[in-house]
Amino acid sequence: MKARIGSQGSLEEGKDPVTKVVNQCKPLPIRLLQFILLFLGLGIVFSFVSVYMVRYSVVQNVIPMVQSRFQSCSQQFSLESWIRPPSNLLHSMNDTQLFWRASFVPRIKEYPFNRTRKIAFMFLTRGPLPLAPLWERFFKGNEKLYSIYIHSLPSYKPDFPPSSVFHGRQIPSQVAEWGRMSMCDAERRLLANALLDISNEWFFLLSEACIPLHNFKVVYHYISKSRYSFMGAVDEPGPYGRGRYNPNMSPEVNITEWRKGSQWFEVNRKLAVDIIKDEVYHPKFEQFCRPACYVDEHYFPTMLTIESPRLLANRTLTYVDWSRGGAHPATFGKADINDQFFKRISESPACTYNDQPTSLCYLFARKFAPSALGPLLEHSTKFLGF
Ligand SMILES: *[C@@H]1O[C@H](CO)[C@@H](O)[C@H](O)[C@H]1NC(C)=O
Ligand SMILES: *[C@@H]1O[C@H](CO)[C@@H](O)[C@H](O)[C@H]1NC(C)=O
Ligand SMILES: *[C@@H]1O[C@H](CO)[C@@H](O)[C@H](O)[C@H]1NC(C)=O
Ligand SMILES: *[C@@H]1O[C@H](CO)[C@@H](O)[C@H](O)[C@H]1NC(C)=O
Repeated sequence: MKARIGSQGSLEEGKDPVTKVVNQCKPLPIRLLQFILLFLGLGIVFSFVSVYMVRYSVVQNVIPMVQSRFQSCSQQFSLESWIRPPSNLLHSMNDTQLFWRASFVPRIKEYPFNRTRKIAFMFLTRGPLPLAPLWERFFKGNEKLYSIYIHSLPSYKPDFPPSSVFHGRQIPSQVAEWGRMSMCDAERRLLANALLDISNEWFFLLSEACIPLHNFKVVYHYISKSRYSFMGAVDEPGPYGRGRYNPNMSPEVNITEWRKGSQWFEVNRKLAVDIIKDEVYHPKFEQFCRPACYVDEHYFPTMLTIESPRLLANRTLTYVDWSRGGAHPATFGKADINDQFFKRISESPACTYNDQPTSLCYLFARKFAPSALGPLLEHSTKFLGF
C-alpha cells in the first residue's frame, strides 16, 4: 500500500512536475528576465554602494589616523606642557597640596627654552582695588613682563571687566587677619600660586592702598639688576623689636637673629620657594608670636635672615609715612597729591643699591585713599613717569 501510494504518489508527483514544467515553461523567460533585471539592478546598486563604501572607509580610516596623531600629540608629554602657565588660577588644591606642588625646583641652572623673566604682582586685599585704573596704566604695554595675583576675602565677588588686567586673577583665598599667622599664610598662598608660573622670577607683595612711584621700565630694571631681595629686616632693640621675641622659639630662632620689617616685600624665586617650603620656623612663630607680637612683621624677615642673610637688602621698596605716630601709618587722600608730597618721598634718607649709595630707594608707596585716584591719574606723567 505504502509503495503503491508511494508510486502513485510519485507518479502523480511525476505527473505534476510535467505539468509544472509545462506550466513554468511559458512564464520562465519573463521571470528569468525579472531575475536578471533584479540582479542587474542589485549589481549596479552594489557597485555604487561599494564605491561609496571604499571612499567612506578611506575617510573613516583617515579620520582615526588624524585623530590618533592629534591624540598622541596631547597625550605625550611635551616641554610646553611643563612650562605653560596655568590657564586658570582657580584650582582644587588645599594649602598642603599647593605648597608641595609649588616647591618643585629645577636642578639644572640653564633653561632649555627662552624664558622671559616676569614680575609677579601679588595684591593682598580685602576686596576691591580702588586704585586699579592707575595700575592699569602702569602695566599697559608690558604684557610679557608681569603677572598678577589677587588674594581677597573669600566672600568678595570680583567684578573686573574682561578687558581689565585684574580680570580672572583671583586665587583661591581664605580669611586673613592682621597681625596673625593667617596673614602670613595668605602671603605664602600668593607666593605658591605665583610660583606655579615658571616664568615668574620676582615677587612683589602689595596692598589695595599701594601705588607705583615709577614707570614699569624703571621698576623692572631696578629689580632685575639687583643683587638682593627687598625684605625689610632690622634688629631693633626695645619693646616693639627684640621685646616681642619669645625664648621658647630657641634653638630654631635665637634673639640675635630676631628681625623686624615691613610686611610689604619683594623676593626672588629662590626665597619665595624657601618661604613656602618652610616647616621649621612656621610652627614656632605660629605658637609663640601672637599679638602683641605681630607675626607678619617678624616671620619672613627672621626666617630669611637665618637661612639666606646674604641675599637680603634688609630694606623695603614700599614707602610709608609713620611720622604722624600711632598704630597705623598716614593715609594720603586727594589733598596730599602735590609736588611737595612726591618731593618728600624722593628726598627720603638715602639707601644703598647693590652696595652703592642711591637716592632711588622706593618703587611703591602706601597708603592711598580712593580719593587720591583722581589727582594721581591727572598728574601720573609728571609725578610717576607713566
Ligand atoms: C589637604 O588634603 C590632604 C589630603 O586630603 C590632607 O592630608 C591635608 O591635611 C589637607 N591640608 C589642609 C591644610 O587642609
Ligand atoms: C629669546 O627672547 C629674546 C627676547 O624676546 C629674543 O631677543 C631672542 O631672539 C630669543 N631667542 C630665541 C633663541 O628664541
Ligand atoms: C641658637 O643658639 C643655640 C645655642 O647657642 C645654637 O645651638 C643654635 O644653632 C642657634 N640657632 C640658630 C638658628 O642659629
Ligand atoms: C642684611 O643683613 C644681614 C644680617 O642680618 C647681612 O648678613 C647682610 O649682609 C645684609 N645685607 C646687606 C645688603 O647689607
